[in-house]
Amino acid sequence: MKKLLVEGCIITNEKISDRIYHMIVQAPEIAACAQPGQFLHVKKIGSANFLRRPLGVANVDKKNNTISIAYRVIGKGTAEFAGMKEREKLSILGPIGNGFVLKEGRPLLIGGGMGMAPLIYLAAKLRDKDPVVLIGGKNKQEVFWEKYIKEFTDKIYITTDDGSAGFKGFTVQLLPKILQDNNIDNIYTCGPDIMMRSVAKIADEYKKDCQVSLERRMACGIGVCLGCTFTGKVTGKRRKVCTEGPVFPAEEVF
Ligand code: FES
Repeated sequence: MKKLLVEGCIITNEKISDRIYHMIVQAPEIAACAQPGQFLHVKKIGSANFLRRPLGVANVDKKNNTISIAYRVIGKGTAEFAGMKEREKLSILGPIGNGFVLKEGRPLLIGGGMGMAPLIYLAAKLRDKDPVVLIGGKNKQEVFWEKYIKEFTDKIYITTDDGSAGFKGFTVQLLPKILQDNNIDNIYTCGPDIMMRSVAKIADEYKKDCQVSLERRMACGIGVCLGCTFTGKVTGKRRKVCTEGPVFPAEEVF
């Protein structure tokens, strides 16, 4: 798919949790073609920061020609985004990469921490398939995603490490019960590798198709620096997360 270079105008840029922001941006050309799991390379127009930041597409509102982006402040670039106000402009390159392949059957979406962001748009796209969503975080402050997901499903499970919301424990501890209680066909997951590795293992045991979206540092984002690569388990080939992913079949990664 052709990558676009467009100007996006910020509609809202709201702090939603500790160091986490949700931004809605008017960008009609991107809204028209972005798919769940794809990402964008973004910089503030006029910024002295040379590098663009890779940010996932959290959702799309085609009616209003907007996209939403959720990001955690972790450095200079994201701190600059956090300081931006409505009507300020972003330079957006994208959509980039290969997102989730939407399959038939009942889906289970599993997100850990910021990994929930791309699953919002995925839940929107799969809303007719009665999706089940499992949200995991360290504590209550990290599982605020429910408010963005609940318009697409009422089957939401929550886990927190400290038990401050939902089931006390990790997502993968609850996963076997969810698979036993619901008629799940496909699993889509995004979050820390340690979580996705366990999800992939359980998916394999239960013979469920599983796609994983990898979170990697991306220096160039265009397949040149090789900083985001891994060796595929099935293909044996060097795979580039930025241009071939970020979504891969679980068996190729873990
Ligand atoms: Fe440079 Fe992927 S980020 S090759």
